Amino acid sequence: MSAKIIDGKAISNQVMEDLKPRIASLKEKGIIPGLTVIIVGKDPASMSYIKSKGKACERLGIGSETIMLKENTPQNDLLAIIENLNLNPRVHGILVQLPLPDQIDDDLVLESISPAKDVDGFSPVNMGKLIAGQDCFVPATPNGVMEMFSRSNIDPEGKHVVIIGRSNIVGKPMAALLMQKKKGANATVTLCHSRTKNIPDITRQADILIAAIGQPNFVTAEMVRPGAVVIDIGINRVDDDSRERGYRIVGDVDFEAVKEVASAITPVPGGVGRMTIAMLMKNTVQACENSLSQ
Ligand code: GUN
Repeated sequence: MSAKIIDGKAISNQVMEDLKPRIASLKEKGIIPGLTVIIVGKDPASMSYIKSKGKACERLGIGSETIMLKENTPQNDLLAIIENLNLNPRVHGILVQLPLPDQIDDDLVLESISPAKDVDGFSPVNMGKLIAGQDCFVPATPNGVMEMFSRSNIDPEGKHVVIIGRSNIVGKPMAALLMQKKKGANATVTLCHSRTKNIPDITRQADILIAAIGQPNFVTAEMVRPGAVVIDIGINRVDDDSRERGYRIVGDVDFEAVKEVASAITPVPGGVGRMTIAMLMKNTVQACENSLSQ
């Protein structure tokens, strides 16, 4: 039996549609939600990610500005730009694309973004609130996975969820969201990482397996319990001469083999990646709405 494919394109379109009346009501008040993205250097994956963000903003009528800085930009220049954006009332969301070049301290930069405009949810204030179970901006990728669960009638409550990957962007916030004492969460979470012993023994115990490693085909069919739900967060470029651009995008899961074992699975592309963009748009609209009551 082949797994149900969880359609990230369709679900993210629903999320985007739900935002339209909220944006229209802001516009009636003369307010356009505004997102500013800062990129330092020209990392190809980051460039394609910010292009998708720009397109989504355009589609929804969200104001979008991209500030492109040279690879060798000094840290203080970046901090000065962020300080100006923090003070600019037309900017509701600020996103600094990661990774940043070596001369820049990521932590310092993320800390300098006003928590009220931190639509990525990466600043220590929002990360702390997430752990404490308080209202905050939640990082778009793990939040997108939660949205996929709720819109696909997959309830993590009481399930054993195994996450592979402990990044601040995905693995850690994903674990925090799933372990919350809250409807739609309440899962038992195991987080595996590069020093975990016998990963396949652990993943085979998962009711829901979430892969966020950044390695093509890391999750094989043997690592998946029959009937498990498999969420693939990886976005990896692999060489492919048959494609005009010379590469194709694959996830962290051996999709063809795993879909024969799992009960449901997200594809790459067309899965979680789409959700990330939609949830970022949602956070931007939320930041704009919040600004009215401040
Ligand atoms: N790099 C990879 N994913 C992300 C993301 O969601 N936000 C930012 N700012 N950088 C990223």
